Amino acid sequence: MLIKSPHDIPSDEITPEKIYLSRRQFMGAAGLFAAGSAVAQPAEKKLPSPPSSPSKTGNELEYLRSHAKSPAGFYTAEKQTPYKHATTYNNFYEFGTGKGDPARYAHEFNPSPWSVRIEGEAQHTGTYTLEDILKPHSLQERIYRLRCVEAWSMVIPWIGFPLGDLLRRFEPNSRAKYVHFTTVHAPKSMRGQRAIFGSIPWPYVEGLRMDEAMHPLTIMVVGMYGKIVPVQNGAPLRLIVPWKYGFKSIKSIVKIRFTEHRPQTTWERSAPREYGFYANVNPQVDHPRWSQASERRLPSSLFSPNRIPTQLFNGYAEQVASLYKGMDLRKFF
Ligand code: MTE
Repeated sequence: MLIKSPHDIPSDEITPEKIYLSRRQFMGAAGLFAAGSAVAQPAEKKLPSPPSSPSKTGNELEYLRSHAKSPAGFYTAEKQTPYKHATTYNNFYEFGTGKGDPARYAHEFNPSPWSVRIEGEAQHTGTYTLEDILKPHSLQERIYRLRCVEAWSMVIPWIGFPLGDLLRRFEPNSRAKYVHFTTVHAPKSMRGQRAIFGSIPWPYVEGLRMDEAMHPLTIMVVGMYGKIVPVQNGAPLRLIVPWKYGFKSIKSIVKIRFTEHRPQTTWERSAPREYGFYANVNPQVDHPRWSQASERRLPSSLFSPNRIPTQLFNGYAEQVASLYKGMDLRKFF
């Protein structure tokens, strides 16, 4: 992004890997649940009071209790990026700016126990354990394209649930126009947060307009490829907004705040001419330093760049274009 230009994955990393567990195998291996329904259950109306102490997430596999394919429109049949690439070629500046840094240093950070603070314009606020956050939600698999602003992309089978179902449980009030997300700040175990030069302000923050946050494509992720989401991909809880550049999909979330005014985001603050609040994938609006017309679908290499045209809203225009009706997408980039 601001600091590094995109690099090719070396050819020794492109050997395809058989990593998928079938659903049956996954459930068996994890000692899990009976087959769940394909559609998320409506979220509970009332939240329990915030417990005083955060609880353990060691038994996270329990959360993958209903690993079901979502309805059409919520997954792509395009070839999936091998697990190895999706988990070793990452952007997670908290662990360093190199693509291999997050996987290399992820072991230094323990995402357990975990809790999420809910603040701002809502009926229910407070600190909730990860278990409280996840309890009422049926998990779904969503196979989405992920398009980074750096012009590479992947196809990843995520496991999660609609963000809107979670947000509704807190009963946001009429002043809640935006949702602001914050990543954990743990400089002792996240070496990127200790870096003095060449980094971004901490903690990493992101935001969505309320209607974007409530859109059924927007999900909270707890797993990928049938497994618990690894630390380098944002454990234990991250956002995925598939029609926006990847930097909107904030990792390792510890705070969600409902706000009346549009929050400033990390990349907007770091380089406002280059990274906007909306960050909708758009092949017609170039980054000031490179074209956004096409992307490298990973795995790719110097000899096999695997370049494909970029689609408006990353191919989700049918579902989301109406959110931006009448807006100048060049101005609100
Ligand atoms: N979230 C945090 N907290 N820190 C980051 O550096 N990088 C973003 C996003 N979320 C980032 C983050 C960017 S630029 C991208 S492209 C995606 O995470 C990458 O997600 P992935 O590593 O799971 O592919």
